[in-house]
Amino acid sequence: MAASALSCLAVAAQIRVSTPSTEMVIDAPEGRHLKILYFGSALTDTDFGYIRDAGFNGVDAYPAYGMRCPAEAAFAATYPDGNMSTDLRVESWSQKTEEGSQLTEVLLKDTVYPLTVKVCWRAYMDVDMIETWTEIENLGKKPVTLTRFDSGFLPVRRGQVWLSHLSGTWANEGQLVQEPLLPGVKMIKNKDGVRNSHTAHSEVMFSLDGRPQENSGRVIGAALCYSGNYELRIDTDDTDWHSFFAGINPDNSAYVLASKEVFRTPELALTYSDEGLSGASRNFHRWARSHRIAHGDRLRKILLNSWEGVYFDINEPGMDQMMADIASMGGELFVMDDGWFGVKYPRLTDNCALGDWQVDTKKLPGGVPGLVECAKKHGVKFGIWIEPEMTNTVSELYEKHPDWVIKAPQRDPVTGRGGTQLVLDLGNPAVQDFVFRIVDDIMTENSEIDYIKWDANMAIMNHGSQYLPKDRQSHMYIEYHRGFAKVCDRIRAKYPDITIQACASGGGRANYGVMPWFDEFWVSDNTDALQRVYMQWGTSYFFPAIAMASHISAAPNHQTFRTIPMKFRIDVAMSGRLGMEIQPKNMTPEEIALCRNAIEEYKMIRPVVQFGDIYRLVSPYDGLDMASMMYCSADKSQAVFYWWKLETFCDQHFPKVRMAGLDPDRLYRVRELNRIDNVLLPYEGKAFSGKFLMENGLEIPYRHIVDYHLQNDWSSRVLYLEAE
Ligand code: GLA
Repeated sequence: MAASALSCLAVAAQIRVSTPSTEMVIDAPEGRHLKILYFGSALTDTDFGYIRDAGFNGVDAYPAYGMRCPAEAAFAATYPDGNMSTDLRVESWSQKTEEGSQLTEVLLKDTVYPLTVKVCWRAYMDVDMIETWTEIENLGKKPVTLTRFDSGFLPVRRGQVWLSHLSGTWANEGQLVQEPLLPGVKMIKNKDGVRNSHTAHSEVMFSLDGRPQENSGRVIGAALCYSGNYELRIDTDDTDWHSFFAGINPDNSAYVLASKEVFRTPELALTYSDEGLSGASRNFHRWARSHRIAHGDRLRKILLNSWEGVYFDINEPGMDQMMADIASMGGELFVMDDGWFGVKYPRLTDNCALGDWQVDTKKLPGGVPGLVECAKKHGVKFGIWIEPEMTNTVSELYEKHPDWVIKAPQRDPVTGRGGTQLVLDLGNPAVQDFVFRIVDDIMTENSEIDYIKWDANMAIMNHGSQYLPKDRQSHMYIEYHRGFAKVCDRIRAKYPDITIQACASGGGRANYGVMPWFDEFWVSDNTDALQRVYMQWGTSYFFPAIAMASHISAAPNHQTFRTIPMKFRIDVAMSGRLGMEIQPKNMTPEEIALCRNAIEEYKMIRPVVQFGDIYRLVSPYDGLDMASMMYCSADKSQAVFYWWKLETFCDQHFPKVRMAGLDPDRLYRVRELNRIDNVLLPYEGKAFSGKFLMENGLEIPYRHIVDYHLQNDWSSRVLYLEAE
C-alpha cells in the first residue's frame, strides 16, 4: 500500500496519532521495526520535534515471536515449513481522516514469508480515546497457523506504577483490585467462552504516579473490546518497561489462517488522563456514550423487571398488576423476565425449554400481544426476556437439533444450569439464523416491544464444535463470537431502535465487545444495596451510569438476606440506570410513596446521571465506612452528590467530603433528594460557590432525624446542586 500524501509531511517517519488532548507518537521507518515512542498528553510541536532527544527512543509496537525470543510477544505464527519465527518490518503507512476520527495504518511485512500485519490506530476527534487493532493477512498459498494474535501492545514506563482492575464472580461482580506492578507477569484472563466479565474484566488502569488517586495523577486506561475469551498480560522484566499486551486468549485457540484470509483482532481502546482515575473514567464514559454503546445519546427508561418479584410465576393477572403498579409509581417500562415460554416443556423452573420460544398459553392466554396491549392500557412500554444462545436437554429444540449444541465428538455434553442447560454452537450459520429468528419472530409479532433482556447463563464447558471440521476445532471460541457478532449485526440492522440489555448470569457481559449492540448491562444478580455500592463503584471505572442497570429490590434482600431500608436502596439505585426489581404489591404504602417520589426526582436528575461526568470522591474500598461520588453535567450547571454510610458504630468520625467537578466561580443551590428527615438540612435551599464546595464540602449528618420508631443504622444522602 502506498503511503498517502499526508505521510510525506511528517517529520521523518514519526507519526502523531492525536485526540483533543492526548497523543501517541509512533515511528514507522521503512524496512525497520515499527515503534511506539510516546503516549500521553498532547505535545507542542517543539516537544514533538525533540521527542527522541528527550530519550523517547521507542519500543517495538507489535513485537513478534522468534527473533528476540526471551521477550514477550504480541504475535506468533507457525509457517507451512514449520518455521516458528516472524520478523515484521514496515512496508508503508498512511493516515486519513474519517468521519469524526483519524485512522492511521502501518503495514508490516515479514522479511521472508508472505504474511502482513496492518497495525491500525483510530484516534477520535471529540473524545480522548485511541483504538488500536491489527489485520493479519496470509498472502501465501498455504495456511499459516497463528498461535498468538494480540490486538495491541503498549509500553508503560516503569516507576511507581499501580494497576487497577476488576475481579469478582456471580453476585459479586466488579470488585476493585489495586496493586503495584512488580517484576514478573501479571495476567488477567477469561476462558468462560460466553460470560467474559465474571472472574475478571478486560479493562485496566495504570496509575503512573504511585498509589492510585481518584482526582489527581497520570493514568492510562485500556479496554479490550471483545465479547469472548481474553488475555491481558503485563510483563515486568529486566527493562525499563511494563510491557502491556491485550488480545483474544490464544489458549486452545490456534487459528489456521487460510490463503488470502484476513484475521482482524478486536479493538483495544487506550486513553490517558492527568486527572486521576476519575479522569480516565470520564474519558471512557464519553467515548462509550458517543461511540461504543447503543443509543448512548438516549435517556434510559425507568423500568420494573419481574424477576425478583415473581421469578417463574408468570401469569396474566400478575403481569397486569405489576404493570399497573410501575405505571402508578411513574415508571415507563415493564420487563417480563424468565418463565413465559415453553409449550411441550413449560418453563416452570430453570431446567427446561430454552430454545422453545413459544409463549406458554396456559400462563398467558393472550400471548405476548395481549401483554403489549395491557402495557399500552397502563401507559408503559413492554420488554421481554430471552436467552437465545442456549438450550436445555429437555426442550423441543434439542430433540430436533442435538447437532446444534457445543460438545466434543464421542462425548456427552457437559450441562449447566438446572442440570440440563447447553450452549448452542453460534459458529454454525444455521444456529445464527435460528438465533436471529428468535428476535425477529418476537418483533414481527409484536412490533411495539421496546426492550429485550438478552441473557446468557452458561459457560462453554466442553470443547467441541459439531459444525467445524476436525482440523478447525481450535477455532471454536473465535467462531462462536464471530457468529454472535453476525447475529447482533443482523438484529441491529433490522431493529435499530429497540433497547437491548446484556445480561449473563448477572454482570457476565459488561464489556465493550458487546456494547455497540447493547444499550446497557445488568450489573449483577446481587441487588443488595450495600454490596452494590462496591460493585457499581468498580464497574464505574470503565462504564457510564447510563449502561449500568441498577434496581431497587426487596428487603430482606434475596441474595444476601440483608435488611436495608428503602431510602438507602433508592439512593444506591439512583446512582445508576434506575429501575425496580421487586413485587410492588408486597411494598408498604410508605415504600411506594418513597419510590414514587424517587422516580419523579430521578427524572429531573436523569440527564446529569446518565450523560454527566463522574467524580468519585471517597472510595468504599478505603475502609472509611462510607463512600461518596458525584456526577456533573458537561456545562457544570447541575450536579448530583451521593453519600452512603457503609457501617455504623458509635463515635464514628467520617471525613468531610470535598466535592469536585464544579465551576469554582458559580453558585450552586443545594436541594436534598429522597428526603426522609423531619427537618431540613441546614443548607437546604442555600447557594454555595463551587470553590467552597470543592475546598470544604458540606457536613453530612451521620444519621437521619426521623421519629424514634423509624430510626435504624442506615444513612445516605443525595444532594442536587443547581447553578444559579
Ligand atoms: C439470570 C439473570 C437474572 C434472571 C434469571 C432468569 O440469572 O441474571 O437476572 O433473568 O437469569 O432465569
